[in-house]
Amino acid sequence: MQYTTLGRTGLKVSVAGLGCGGFSRLGLGTGQSTEHATGIIRQALDLGVNLIDTAAAYGTEDVVGMALRHVPRDSVVVCTKASRSAGDAAFSVDKVIDSLDDSLKRLGLNYVDVFQLHAVPPTAYDHVRDAIVPALLEQRDKGKFRFLGITETAPNDPEQKMLARAARDEFWDTAMVAFHLMHQVARTKVFPHTIANRIGTLMMFVVRGIFARPAQLAATMRHLAAAGQVPAWLAKGDDPLGFLVHPEGASSVTDAAYRYARHEPGVDVVLFGTGDAGHLRTNIASILKPPLPLADRAKLQELFSHLRGVGLDAPAARAK
Ligand SMILES: NC(=O)c1ccc[n+]([C@@H]2O[C@H](COP(=O)([O-])OP(=O)(O)OC[C@H]3O[C@@H](n4cnc5c(N)ncnc54)[C@H](OP(=O)(O)O)[C@@H]3O)[C@@H](O)[C@H]2O)c1
Repeated sequence: MQYTTLGRTGLKVSVAGLGCGGFSRLGLGTGQSTEHATGIIRQALDLGVNLIDTAAAYGTEDVVGMALRHVPRDSVVVCTKASRSAGDAAFSVDKVIDSLDDSLKRLGLNYVDVFQLHAVPPTAYDHVRDAIVPALLEQRDKGKFRFLGITETAPNDPEQKMLARAARDEFWDTAMVAFHLMHQVARTKVFPHTIANRIGTLMMFVVRGIFARPAQLAATMRHLAAAGQVPAWLAKGDDPLGFLVHPEGASSVTDAAYRYARHEPGVDVVLFGTGDAGHLRTNIASILKPPLPLADRAKLQELFSHLRGVGLDAPAARAK
């Protein structure tokens, strides 16, 4: 494993972080058992992963708590999140604090390392900053969490308007950012500010569905080509990004996606979500490999840096 410093938190974290949400939810999302899910966490820890990202909304906090029961508390960085209740237009102070307390109970912990506000839309940001942050900083001072983070709602904010504001404010210790090889917005909108303010960054949506399911990628490419947003040659055939796979380059499209995000300046941690022990190993290996060849990275920038909102799909009827 390789480790880095998570911005101004000073935490030493693995560059590969285990995401407990997304489509997989450690395998719970695809019908696997609790024992299977705790096994995925333990295997990640054995491979040197020391950052785990969960959320009240994922239904995986109790599993994380089980897996960490006999793990020294200071050997792992636990991140969780509070989201808006269904039907609420904004976050409420009481509900966010209740959510934090409930998360601590489910995790079986006295504190979490990073407490994040989950999927904050641009329209809620003023309220979050003015009402929720001061209340949460009091909870931090009571010792319930160490660092304050924010995550965006990528499918609803493809221009990253919320994070472009948050990354200029002084109270966020971490930001979770959607970034992938066909969604490069953060390079100009977010990373210059997170770097300047030493905000630790966690990448999400790096593979998601689009770089895990070849048919979804091919269909997306056909749609983009028909709309004139990518060259027509990318719509021909079933493997539009196959040009990335060659002896000096990536071993697969998924490998390319993890490596592309990992080496972007401004990226601290690449989250990967999986319920599959084989994927766990290959994803960590990908995240630890060198950057893609310069010519391939230049091609990806030329082809895709103008795109907005591609591949930011949410699991049906579940918050991220
Ligand atoms: N707004 C938010 O706060 C927010 C939103 C989204 C995500 N997140 C966080 O980010 C984490 C990462 O989520 P993500 O969905 O973006 O994860 P991801 O790593 O980009 O994609 C994971 C998906 O790809 C599949 N996959 C993984 N490795 C693969 C491989 N080697 N080959 C083929 N398929 C593979 C997984 O299925 P398998 O189970 O089969 O491996 C899963 O369906 C989440 O767990 C969560 O912690 C936060």
